[in-house]
Amino acid sequence: MDEQLIKTVNKLQDAFSTVGVHNPVDLPQIVVIGSQSSGKSSVLENIVGRDFLPRGTGIVTRRPLILQLINRAATTPVKEDDGEKKGEENPNEWGEFLHLPGKKFFNFNEIRDEIVNDTEKKTGKNLGISPVPINLRVFSPNVLTLTLVDLPGLTKVPVGDQPKDIERQIREMILTYINKPNAIILAVTAANTDLANSDGLKLAREVDPEGTRTIGVLTKVDLMDKGTDVIDILAGRVIPLRLGYVPVVNRGQKDIETKRSIKSALDNESEFFRSHSSYESKAQYCGTPFLARKLNILLMHHIKITLPEIKAKISAALAKNLSELEQLGDPISDGAGQAANTTLGIITEFCANFRSALEGQSTDLST
Ligand code: GDP
Ligand code: NA
Ligand code: MG
Repeated sequence: MDEQLIKTVNKLQDAFSTVGVHNPVDLPQIVVIGSQSSGKSSVLENIVGRDFLPRGTGIVTRRPLILQLINRAATTPVKEDDGEKKGEENPNEWGEFLHLPGKKFFNFNEIRDEIVNDTEKKTGKNLGISPVPINLRVFSPNVLTLTLVDLPGLTKVPVGDQPKDIERQIREMILTYINKPNAIILAVTAANTDLANSDGLKLAREVDPEGTRTIGVLTKVDLMDKGTDVIDILAGRVIPLRLGYVPVVNRGQKDIETKRSIKSALDNESEFFRSHSSYESKAQYCGTPFLARKLNILLMHHIKITLPEIKAKISAALAKNLSELEQLGDPISDGAGQAANTTLGIITEFCANFRSALEGQSTDLST
């Protein structure tokens, strides 16, 4: 996730918590949808930048995973690339499951094992599904306070212990998440399948016909037949999407087996687009970093639109505090009133600066 955005939102949160308004910036949830094995979990993992989601061929994600990222300043100094070297552990980053209160997971491989364990507890080992979500919170200095949702993929034919109406059940499960007007939909389609048959795009269109909150993600671009590419799709000549499409290359099944790191996968992705004759001239609009930037711009827009509402919340909180003080008839209430007004002044100024900083930013979402 974008460092600048993280810093800005943190500042905003800090400014507000001084007047007792916590978490004023309610960012949209990011929800990944698409066919089974299209690469949804892989895309999410790359956006977060940590290895912790079960991925693989077949139906691996069998319950919704509600992943709450929580920004928390580092308290223990560590060297930059320690995480990579020490087999993923960093004292400032950990996960906690709602179903295991108080237990901190510093090892992200153990987080993945626990997701698998708890999935099996609710659904059995024979490919069953369940709408009961797994709730995971990840605390880290490197994330935005934001919620991401990983979902089972759309599938038509039941296998194993799956219900006869699996297609309908999964559809309904997905709809409960993407119906929320506050959800950003990442509609994932494998580039080596036909876009016209994309289950993710079809479902996204049902809840977001104007396309104001759907981003198309094309995975497996590396697996396309030689001589074919996604250029027509990117140019909006196949199924146009207002916010456009981003082609990505995630880790393949072999990379999962050999435990290829995210960093190495991102290097490989960047090299793929820069050296491919179809994409070399537009490599900056391809790949996971571009997808993350696009998401950041959407989030910034959201903050900008909700700033007046945020300010109203603060004024209300201040007014309430002041009238409480006055009722106490506290001799220092004059001083307190002044302090509160000064705080409101600081926040008003902050909002104005924030808004003008946003206006200076590129907000072109169509690229
Ligand atoms: P999900 O079922 O949609 O969550 O998909 P997963 O993320 O579990 O991925 C399904 C399979 O496709 C795994 O074996 C991944 O390694 C593989 N995969 C996903 N994205 C890509 C990609 O861009 N390129 C290649 N070669 N394989 C991918
Ligand atoms: Na899968
Ligand atoms: Mg998955």
